[in-house]
Amino acid sequence: MTDPTGEDPRPAGRAVGSPTPRDSASRIEPGPPGAPEPAAAGLYDRVRTAAAAVRARISAVPQVGLILGSGLGGFADGLAHATTIDYADVPHFPRSQVVGHQGRLVIGERAGARCIAMQGRVHLYEGHSAATVAFPARVLVELGAKVIIVTNAAGGLDPAWQPGTLMLIRDHLDLLRDHALRGPNDDRLGPRFPDMTTAYAPELRELSRRAAEAAGIELAEGVYAAMPGPTYETPAEIKMLRMLGADATGMSTVPEVCVARHMGARVIGVSCITNHAAGITGHALSHDEVTETAARVQPTFERLLDAILGALVARRELAP
Ligand code: HPA
Repeated sequence: MTDPTGEDPRPAGRAVGSPTPRDSASRIEPGPPGAPEPAAAGLYDRVRTAAAAVRARISAVPQVGLILGSGLGGFADGLAHATTIDYADVPHFPRSQVVGHQGRLVIGERAGARCIAMQGRVHLYEGHSAATVAFPARVLVELGAKVIIVTNAAGGLDPAWQPGTLMLIRDHLDLLRDHALRGPNDDRLGPRFPDMTTAYAPELRELSRRAAEAAGIELAEGVYAAMPGPTYETPAEIKMLRMLGADATGMSTVPEVCVARHMGARVIGVSCITNHAAGITGHALSHDEVTETAARVQPTFERLLDAILGALVARRELAP
């Protein structure tokens, strides 16, 4: 498989590119002649190149990056004074093949905030590394978005949560089998060992809860468990996830959150609970159900994002 960001697509666990004490302490330096190319070498340059290509087509620095999940991409169509850029026109950007995921950036204004939205994302189950999946999120931050709003469709583990429930992500469980920061670290992008205590910024969760309440939108809150897919979970896995403390599960989001935190952006996460997770009702799960629920919830989801963006602007949480 060709990895679109030019990374080593080898599976986790290979010795090549594994961390060394020197990697922990310093940024990437060329190894001795003939040494294997470190997996992260060039990542910084690829991020800068991609960001420069986008920057050349827009006139203002975006304040908020939005990553729109399955069936939720329509929000970007409502950005004012929009510029759209196909992922194909951004160097090193991976492209999605999943139905319901477009592949373009939309840059424009909404609720008083300058936004850059991703309509469509790639997933690990398509064969990409976690670093590749997360690459576009790096570009959003590099372009100036210091708040990243990441959204997804997810299965709900609480039987009381009806499909259509919106859940603010309080924290996550990373059960993916690859990590976006695996391999040598480049200190120009961020620290070797980023703290994840406040991965989903507490003050922005508070802001989001208040914004939802003021807009009359019910907002649940919980822990998102990232599973690799592409199969939906088994009922036994769902039981396990509940025992681990998860409230929702999906196949995305965590890689992007990790790189956003790595680069110092603050994150807000919202899951659209599109279905009861496997085994809760006994009926089979389907992608159709996921996209149908997401489409039904889209107007409320958009109102929630508008309320959050408006509150971010009103509370001066965004960079000028
Ligand atoms: N499991 C995993 N991913 C999902 C689900 C689910 O139940 N629903 C939407 N995305």
